[in-house]
Amino acid sequence: MKSSLLEWLACPVCHEALTLREAAPADAAEIESGELACRSDHRFPIRKGIPRFVEGDVYVKNFSFQWWEHRTTQVDRYGRHKESTRKFQSHLDVPLSWLKGKRVLDIGCGPGRFMDVALAEGAEVVGVDLSFAVDAARANLGMESRAHFIQGDVFALPFKPETFDLVFSFGVLHHTPDCRRAFEALPPLTRPGGKVSICLYSAYERVLVVPGNFWRKILNRLPPRLLYAICHLAGPLYYPYRIPVIGHFGKMIWNISMRPEWRWRILDTYDWYSPKYQSAHTHPEVFRWFKEAGLTDIQVLESGISMLGNKPAPAPMPLDRRPEAAARG
Ligand SMILES: C[S@@+](CC[C@H](N)C(=O)[O-])C[C@H]1O[C@@H](n2cnc3c(N)ncnc32)[C@H](O)[C@@H]1O
Ligand SMILES: [Zn+2]
Repeated sequence: MKSSLLEWLACPVCHEALTLREAAPADAAEIESGELACRSDHRFPIRKGIPRFVEGDVYVKNFSFQWWEHRTTQVDRYGRHKESTRKFQSHLDVPLSWLKGKRVLDIGCGPGRFMDVALAEGAEVVGVDLSFAVDAARANLGMESRAHFIQGDVFALPFKPETFDLVFSFGVLHHTPDCRRAFEALPPLTRPGGKVSICLYSAYERVLVVPGNFWRKILNRLPPRLLYAICHLAGPLYYPYRIPVIGHFGKMIWNISMRPEWRWRILDTYDWYSPKYQSAHTHPEVFRWFKEAGLTDIQVLESGISMLGNKPAPAPMPLDRRPEAAARG
């Protein structure tokens, strides 16, 4: 953890400022261990260089496994592709160069594929994840001076209000027990004039969502390693599934990712069948959440349920009510 992160943090229990105790190595730029504490003595350990605001990976053990197994698959700088850059751009209404110098929060960062993009564009980025994926993110990006990592829960985030220019969460909130309540954590952390961007599973593909959920509820009880082995079937099944009629019926029985890259295909298939929680949403529903959160200029973007909104900046005070006008009488 870099001590500069402290300025943005607040106790997730009582919202007071946090101070650093017993930091080791003392006075180092990167703190490997220690403790954060507030005036009311709520304490949070720093272990392996990451402040831990949760006890463990509770309902996301599948993601801890998945993101260590595929620590680099989707990260542009390691995979030598631009897939994450392209996807990030599809969730923004401005060019990625807008990110330069911005403070950005990635909720549910996984191994940091989107943090990587924001860092490359010159942003200062905090990645939060409930699972030990956050250690994978640190292994991938910890060498960057503008990258910060936190193990925490979207339902109890440890930040001061209105800290970030952009708060985003791609492919995450639908994996929590209450997607809408999880979304409600984002706007308060966004500064006036800043942006909120999310991407969720779509409820529009019922023909695949229904059998998918049926299999997920059975398969997610298996030990991660066994389910991962089963998902390797996606490797060879890809070829018969490409035949029009066979593929159509095959997907209705047991859908698999149709990514051409073998490893990516297995990762995506495991990602669909392993989560404990998985919900799907519609555009009107999510549009309403944005509106009710006071966000404006709401935009429906491509791929899944991708939506972006702005947090309105306070209206400028009328000229005749400004302090200088009052002083003039
Ligand atoms: C499908 S992965 C997406 C990761 C990353 N956003 C990406 O697109 O590569 C979902 C992530 O959400 C995280 N997650 C689930 N529930 C969470 C919660 N309550 N708070 C924070 N992260 C959570 C999981 O641990 C997992 O890493
Ligand atoms: Zn506290």
